[in-house]
Amino acid sequence: MAQGFAEALNASRVRVETTLDAALAGQSGPVAEAMGYAVRGGKCLRGFLVLESAALFDVAPDTAARAAAAIECLHGYSLVHDDLPCMDDDDMRRGQPTVHRKWDETIAVLAGDALQALSFELIAGVKADPAAVVDLTLSLARAAGVAGMVGGQAMDIAAETAETPLSLNQITALQAGKTGALITWSACAGARIAGQDIAPLKTYGDALGLAFQIWDDVLDIEGDAETMGKAVNKDADRGKATFVSHLGLDGAKRRANDLVEQANGALSIYGARADCLREAARFVISRSN
Ligand code: IPE
Ligand code: IPE
Ligand code: MG
Ligand code: MG
Ligand code: MG
Repeated sequence: MAQGFAEALNASRVRVETTLDAALAGQSGPVAEAMGYAVRGGKCLRGFLVLESAALFDVAPDTAARAAAAIECLHGYSLVHDDLPCMDDDDMRRGQPTVHRKWDETIAVLAGDALQALSFELIAGVKADPAAVVDLTLSLARAAGVAGMVGGQAMDIAAETAETPLSLNQITALQAGKTGALITWSACAGARIAGQDIAPLKTYGDALGLAFQIWDDVLDIEGDAETMGKAVNKDADRGKATFVSHLGLDGAKRRANDLVEQANGALSIYGARADCLREAARFVISRSN
């Protein structure tokens, strides 16, 4: 990982965690504890994308930090529910027991629900033009819901028991939903807050989101459980429909490379100001966790 990028990613994580600590301050009890647990310890890539896209439009850092914290809450909720026994049934996440393992399923469901609510609370408090706040809220609701993450998760689970393997188009739609929607939202957030054109960042985010999930699927085969902080070698056994299951490892890697080139090509309009976003795209297909 390039030094400058690693530092920027780390700085994003600190900024997001500070904002989340403030948002959760004064809350106590197991659900609040599980929420704090579930939003810590990740790479904070989505929060980073929000902060970097906001920097392109000179959005005030505190304003961007609320949107970055909001997407990390939503992402954290998606992971808590993704790990439940009725979904992927995982025991480890980010090197620690999953929320339903550390507490129980009731707490995991409720902590996920409350993280989703907190995400929208944070977005509603973004200090920007009211029209921009409505746009942010509406787009986040769509990215999170049945046309986005939840819809993609439903397709992912249904594919496990499908009688015929999914086509590449179906896998693309599944992954664009379950993973791509939140990543695209993150990449576009800065432009939305500033009331600017989201088109170049949407092209970037769409390609990056697919590349991100392809690499997650590659790491399920080639990765190491300790480095990843989660179980590996699970997707094939569960019958998950992935680019790897369809194209093989080499084909999936080639596709991920092409997608990263496509993503970075869309950033030319921003010149050198978008170098950190370009670095993020390269990181997505070189990371080991
Ligand atoms: C994991 O996302 C879930 C997928 C969409 C594949 P990340 O790999 O970004 O998870 P954290 O936040 O860094 O733990
Ligand atoms: C998770 O995809 C996507 C969401 C949480 C929406 P995966 O199920 O592949 O993620 P991991 O491998 O458990 O992190
Ligand atoms: Mg899953
Ligand atoms: Mg999973
Ligand atoms: Mg996975």
